[in-house]
Amino acid sequence: MINLRSIRARLTLWSVAALAAILAIFSATATWNMRQALLRALEHTLEMQADAVADSYDPEEGRFNVLHEGEEEANEALSAWIRIVAEDGGILYETAAMGAAGWPFPYDRASELRDRADFFFQKLVSRSGRSYLAVIYPVWRGSQLVAWVQLALPTKQVSDPLHRLIVSLLIAAPVALLLAGFTGYWLADRALRPVEVIRSRAESISQANLAARVPVPGRGDELSRLAETFNAMLDRLEAAFKAQQRFIADASHELKTPIAILRARWENEINDADLPQEVRTQLTRDVEELARLNKLVEDLLLLTRADEGKIPLAREPVSLDELLNSLLEDARTLASGKEQKIHTEITTCGTVQGDRNRLYQLFLNLVDNAVKYSQPGATIRITCERRGARVVVAVQDDGPGIPPEDLPLIFDRFYRVDKSRSRELGGSGLGLSICKWIAEAHGGSITVQSQPGQGTRVEVSLPATA
Ligand SMILES: Nc1ncnc2c1ncn2[C@@H]1O[C@H](COP(=O)(O)OP(=O)(O)O)[C@@H](O)[C@H]1O
Ligand SMILES: [Mg+2]
Repeated sequence: MINLRSIRARLTLWSVAALAAILAIFSATATWNMRQALLRALEHTLEMQADAVADSYDPEEGRFNVLHEGEEEANEALSAWIRIVAEDGGILYETAAMGAAGWPFPYDRASELRDRADFFFQKLVSRSGRSYLAVIYPVWRGSQLVAWVQLALPTKQVSDPLHRLIVSLLIAAPVALLLAGFTGYWLADRALRPVEVIRSRAESISQANLAARVPVPGRGDELSRLAETFNAMLDRLEAAFKAQQRFIADASHELKTPIAILRARWENEINDADLPQEVRTQLTRDVEELARLNKLVEDLLLLTRADEGKIPLAREPVSLDELLNSLLEDARTLASGKEQKIHTEITTCGTVQGDRNRLYQLFLNLVDNAVKYSQPGATIRITCERRGARVVVAVQDDGPGIPPEDLPLIFDRFYRVDKSRSRELGGSGLGLSICKWIAEAHGGSITVQSQPGQGTRVEVSLPATA
């Protein structure tokens, strides 16, 4: 289906409309000119024939020789509709066809004839509706008007070719319009094809491949300039984005050392036996806060370096059965604080290619979320199954769930459904962003299904190698 609002379709429609207008003007002019020329030719024939009849007047005999002599050829060439009217109005001669037609002689214009001494034309219609053109031609003998020749011919000579011309125009015009439509569409399609290439490439450029550029058609035309402008804009965007990444990385880096120093100093301080209990409690809380800050800075650094593609990932076979089983211990430790149960269904789910430590981090993050956001005593299920060429690991809880309006946002950096609660629990909203990066860096994907009040299920799908 052609989109009528596309430039292609509009260009085509406009060019077809313009051609239609041109064809209409051309056809009207051609038809009119042809009609005039044919009419002139018919008038000329009438005049010549009438003149020949008038010329053949024999004053001795008082008759028109052409009409009487057995001159077969001359007679044959002559019109079948001839009438000679005497100056006094009496009919001197009339062919059978003329008599049958019964056309009147325009006596009312006879005086005009005398004055002008010239011929004129008269339009006639037969009883059967056919059109004729007649000439009224005076016959002079010296300065004396002898008679009139009324000579008619059918206007078929004019209307037939005209009719043929109109029919051929009516056939040719739609064909020409159709051809113009096809060529117009084809040309516009060719000319605009680079636009589609630029558009689809531009669409695919995101934060992940900001270094990519749209192809420049290289013809020095408007589209090349558009592509160049686009690329210049991408250069500026990339530079701005890199500057921002650098800033975050530098800031995180600057924070790391002081946090580590403070943490070490206060941890040392806590061990001082002389410390009053309330100061110790305060210090313990501060150390926890510092640990949280340290984690935040590390996560931030990890994400910015991941964006820059600076995190090397191992590419080795990782058995997920083994990985998940060893994760279980950590998971149980996390869950024990809230007396939650970890339930597993890990059969032989296969091996993936990748970085064991990162994958471990990914699944532990998910378990950590499930533990943190579910109520005490909840059950957390870790399952693993093969789905064709992929292996799907799911972490499911029967916790509070996530409201549907927050679902599309939870993978965004720093996004937390309940900020203060997440903070209390030591979260910063970067966990799922890291999970997403790890899953995607392994050619996989991560999805969440959640219903408020009915728990959350996070699925990680990875390409399996065995
Ligand atoms: N299992 C879950 N149950 C309910 N809410 C969850 C769950 N996992 C994640 N969330 C929500 O998604 C937010 C983002 O998660 P995450 O990126 O890990 O950040 P956080 O540091 O807060 O844990 C969390 O703050 C929480 O509101
Ligand atoms: Mg988290």
